[in-house]
Amino acid sequence: MKQRYVCRISGEKLTLSLYSLRRAMRDKLLLKLGFQSLFRDNVSSFYFHALNRQTNLAERRCGPPSVNYYEFGVGLGGTLINYIKALRKFCKRSKKELYSYHIFAFDSFNGLPKKKSPKDDYKEWYEGCYSHSLSEIKQRVIKQGIDLRQGTVHLIKGFYEKTLTPELRNELKDYPPSIVTIDCDYYSSTKTVLEWLRPILVSGTLFYFDDIWSFHGNPHYGELAAINEFNKAEEGQLTPIPLFGLSSKIFIYSRREFEFTRENQDDRELNVEIVDSSTTSLQRKSIYASPLNCPLLKC
Ligand SMILES: C[S@@+](CC[C@H](N)C(=O)[O-])C[C@H]1O[C@@H](n2cnc3c(N)ncnc32)[C@H](O)[C@@H]1O
Repeated sequence: MKQRYVCRISGEKLTLSLYSLRRAMRDKLLLKLGFQSLFRDNVSSFYFHALNRQTNLAERRCGPPSVNYYEFGVGLGGTLINYIKALRKFCKRSKKELYSYHIFAFDSFNGLPKKKSPKDDYKEWYEGCYSHSLSEIKQRVIKQGIDLRQGTVHLIKGFYEKTLTPELRNELKDYPPSIVTIDCDYYSSTKTVLEWLRPILVSGTLFYFDDIWSFHGNPHYGELAAINEFNKAEEGQLTPIPLFGLSSKIFIYSRREFEFTRENQDDRELNVEIVDSSTTSLQRKSIYASPLNCPLLKC
């Protein structure tokens, strides 16, 4: 007798043979892939576009000065691997150096902590959920052809309440985030992350919030509540940006006092004559210099 399988497809309970089950799953997958290619509504295409945009802005000095990726909530490494794939593709196509892009990934590597607030309380989340070890994630990163000895992938282990200190923020201030993924589920974790990030955020930073719709748009729960509270402080604003697919999960940060105005610009292109003392030959060089660290203005 043929074996039959009871399954639920799009909410409908069906009893199917293995052959029909395979066909149904293939159709579902094809549909998903079809939608994705039509609308490019997936996180990988967001990362690719974000890398392109942020690299361009950094070169024009109109946004975050370098393209550093921060991820809060690594879990099994799904979003991290998607980012790495997009980064490899982007670097290959635009002939950029892969190891000039830094990645900072923060997680307990022990799964979710205890819930701290009713605003965290979604049915499917519990303490220890999504527990994957640091070594497991390292192996997954290495499998993507990343050489960890280059020192551009930083995996920061521990609960945010302990690891996200002012000292760590100070250490990272030369690597401000440019693309941020927040996939740590809870309101309380998202709130801790956003408050920690606030002082180093630069206008133009792009955020991907994976769990924003977990509470069906309720503004008092989950990531959405943390974003609303962040915006109340009025020092800077997270605004949904409809630039890419997944627009309902993507936000852009801007400071209250916008920093990239013409009046504010502290970077000018200077044409200076530099005397090379060893050869005494004159070289004409076009350099970018900020009034603060330009040797010509210092002396
Ligand atoms: C849903 S998983 C992330 C999934 C992952 N982005 C992926 O695509 O596979 C959520 C992660 O957030 C982490 N997390 C949540 N709150 C945290 C906290 N306060 N400190 C450290 N890690 C936390 C958990 O350890 C867990 O790995």
